[in-house]
Parts: sequence; structure tokens; C-alpha cells
Amino acid sequence: MNTLLKVSNLKVDFMTVRGIVHAVQGVDFSLNRGKTLGIVGESGCGKSVLVKSILRLHEEQKTRCSGNILFEGHNILDLSPREMLAIRGVRASMIFQDPMISLNPILKIGEQIAETFRARRSMTKGQAAEEALRLLKRVGITPAEERYHQYPFELSGGMLQRVVIAIAISLEPEILIADEATTALDMTVQKEILDLLKWLRKEKGMSLIVVTHDFGVVAEMCDSIAVMYAGKIMEYGSARQIFNDPCHPYTRALISSTPSGAKGGKLISIPGAPPELYEPQTGCAFYPRCSQAAERCRESLPAMHSASGNHVFRCERPQ
Ligand SMILES: Nc1ncnc2c1ncn2[C@@H]1O[C@H](COP(=O)(O)OP(=O)(O)O)[C@@H](O)[C@H]1O
Ligand SMILES: [Mg+2]
Repeated sequence: MNTLLKVSNLKVDFMTVRGIVHAVQGVDFSLNRGKTLGIVGESGCGKSVLVKSILRLHEEQKTRCSGNILFEGHNILDLSPREMLAIRGVRASMIFQDPMISLNPILKIGEQIAETFRARRSMTKGQAAEEALRLLKRVGITPAEERYHQYPFELSGGMLQRVVIAIAISLEPEILIADEATTALDMTVQKEILDLLKWLRKEKGMSLIVVTHDFGVVAEMCDSIAVMYAGKIMEYGSARQIFNDPCHPYTRALISSTPSGAKGGKLISIPGAPPELYEPQTGCAFYPRCSQAAERCRESLPAMHSASGNHVFRCERPQ
């Protein structure tokens, strides 16, 4: 089987003092080995919650997860905390927008990488240092020998993100999840980091999930794309299907609102804001902002329709 990850009917609720937040509301997708999935949508639509559930990073007491997250056939949601330790950071890694979340500010960067090797691969100090240096070079940190002995505050944002990538891939995970990992970087550095991820995927046959609010990023590097809105996937298909033949009004609006997607250079922002996720929705969540909306869109939840092949969309009035 080529499928590495298969998520079905995933729901994630948070118990809060203000009520229950329905952050992910029944999501399905699968990811093959060596492929890249893009998850795109505006801020607050549930992208981070979705991908964090794959590594079970939520505070379990306040979270309710249901559905299946099959990773090589085993349901992540059923694994014990001990079994999760053998997956998280080992077979599946994640990088975030702020590299400092994953780094120790008072430890030299080379030592942070070497530490992983010593702890997880039981290498000697010397072997671990050698491996760490090799890895710094591989992710394009130069001069690696000098950088090895520097502290995080001495490095630029792009360099720090490279260090975080080095740590994330140090144990050769089968999947790397990048959650807005290039969002804080300027365009040139963003492109360099995306190129590095593409290269690593090719070299290692790793699968990637790229989470972003920017269609430009997913256009760059994804095989398939899931467009999320208010906790649901609104449209899913190959990158080509999503770009050449977007069916959902939200996908179209999102493409026209990003610089790289706005054909003819005209940026059109989407009026209104995504809904709060406290109440389960009756109709289509995008209804209040949709240029195509009709009365029935408010009344009943649109079903998932098939456009062609794997290309599906959740709309009763596609364009
Ligand atoms: N730990 C939490 N407790 C309660 N609500 C949360 C928690 N984490 C995220 N949320 C809510 O879930 C929704 C989706 O958040 P998130 O996945 O972070 O969005 P994004 O698409 O920007 O990554 C938001 O409404 C957010 O406020
Ligand atoms: Mg997020």
C-alpha cells in the first residue's frame, strides 16, 4: 500500500469556559508516500487543530477527538502515550511558524541537534556531533562549523527555520508537517525554505503536509490541496484541478485574494469574516460571505459532490 496517512471523519472539539468549540467537523483525506498535501484556508478555520491531532498535540483533558487517523494502518487516536512517543518526532515531525517554539534559547544549535541523536539513536558524543554537523550542512546552513557553536539568537529567522527542519528530519520521519512554517519569512527566504522541503521530500521520499493561508505556497509545491473553511474541507483535488477548475466559491475567492493567484494582478479580498465555531452549523458556513448563495444554502448543509476523479467540493451552487 502506498497510503501513509488516511484521515476519516475526524472531529475535534474543545471544551472551553465559553462552550464547545467545534474546530474540526468531519474531515477526510489521505496522503500517499512521497506526496505533498497542502491545507489552505483563512486564519481560524481549523488547519492547525487538524494537523496537531495527527501528532496528538492537544491537551487531552480538554479535547474530544473522534474518527480515524490511520498512520500506516494504525489509528493514532487509539495509541497509548508510550506508543505516541515512538511516532512523534520520530516517524512524524512537525515544524511551526515560530522556530523558537521548538528550540532551546540557551543551547548551541549544533548541540540541540546532537542531543536528538544521543537520546534517540544512542550515539556517543563524538558521533552525535559529527551527525549534527552533517545535517546542518544538508539543510544549507553555512558555514556549518561556525554555526554549530552559535546560539539561536545569533541566527536569522530563515536560518533558525533551517535548524528546526534539521531537528525535525534528524530521525528520518516518514512525514513532515509544516504549519505556516514560512509565513514569518520574507519572500526570498520563504522560497529557499520551500525549495529545501521539496528537495528533502525528493531525496528521502518523505511525505509532506504544508499548512498555509497563502495559495502561492501550495501552488509551489503540492500534489493535492484541501481547502478548509470553518472546520470543514470545502474542496479537495489535485493542485491542477484546484487551480484550473476551482468549483467552490470559497476556493475561487481565496485564489483571487492571494497575490500569486489573482490573475491579471487584481487582488479581491473576501468580505466578512469566518464564523465562530461554537454552534454546529445548519447550512453552509460560507453562506453569509458567498456571492453565489441561495436560500437553501442557509437551510441545509451542502453535501460533498464529485467534480471529476478525486476532485470533490461541498457546494450546491458551484460556479
Ligand atoms: N486549545 C484550544 N481551545 C479552544 N479553542 C481552540 C483551541 N485551539 C484552537 N481553537 C479554536 O479552533 C479554531 C481553529 O483554530 P486553528 O486550527 O488554530 O486555526 P488556523 O486555521 O488558523 O490554524 C479557532 O476558532 C480557534 O480559536
Ligand atoms: Mg494555524
